[in-house]
Amino acid sequence: MEAQINGINLAFSDEGQGQPIVFLHAFPLNRSMWEPQVKGLKSQFRIITVDLRGHGKSEAPMWRYSLDQFAEDTKNLLDHLGIAKAVFVGLSMGGYILFSLYRKYPSLFDALVLADTRATADTPEAKSTRFSMAQIAYKRGSSTIADLMLPKLLGQTSLSHRQDLVKQLRHMITANQISGIVGDLMAMEERPDSTPLLRSLKIPTLVIVGEEDLASPPEEVQGMAEHIPGAKFIIIPEAGHVSNLEQPELFNQTVYKFFREVENGDWTERDFGSDSGSLI
Ligand code: MLT
Repeated sequence: MEAQINGINLAFSDEGQGQPIVFLHAFPLNRSMWEPQVKGLKSQFRIITVDLRGHGKSEAPMWRYSLDQFAEDTKNLLDHLGIAKAVFVGLSMGGYILFSLYRKYPSLFDALVLADTRATADTPEAKSTRFSMAQIAYKRGSSTIADLMLPKLLGQTSLSHRQDLVKQLRHMITANQISGIVGDLMAMEERPDSTPLLRSLKIPTLVIVGEEDLASPPEEVQGMAEHIPGAKFIIIPEAGHVSNLEQPELFNQTVYKFFREVENGDWTERDFGSDSGSLI
């Protein structure tokens, strides 16, 4: 499906019925990274996935991208679909966008899943790597970006045993336009430190990370979870940065349990009273 949102064509899918769950993808991928979740969860929930501007089948205007703009696109897509509240799942860059969305529209959130993401801003070194990568994208194209990103996206187990995933991710990355890849890099480079926001996330929150994630290491992600009142923290074994694709069954079981707890009202205000995360 497609809709005209904020002046551009955005591609999305909307399947199933019930509690709306919105999935936001990572850099430099697209909504097809959520296929195992759509397949596994659409009989129980309304699952919305979107190709963020610059990705997949959405338009990739030349300039200028920001996390706030991705958040506005998401909000306007939900308005278009008549959805006033949802559970949000963001992986890596998808998580960065959810921090922007929460800052502006906290009442949109029934609950939050942060997967393989971090709250901190880029260090000066990370910012300079973004600029180098943007230059590489212009000069050498998306296939070189795929070469650079694949070892960061997949864990050692998948890199050794899952050539199907290597191929699938390469395809997603090379299908993107350079304007989208560079737009993401500049948007992520300017993101603020969201650490101060974490204590104000008084909604049911689940934090997930792959055991072999090098881009957002488990210790760092656990540290983030500990700042979110009442957050649950789960490590997915034998998975890297795209834990939802590397261990789809475990990922789905984990989020399914959480979605059901949210739906059944198992989370109460009391759960957000403490500042330290609980580990399950
Ligand atoms: C992602 O997977 O979205 C990226 O690793 C995020 C980043 O580069 O900071």
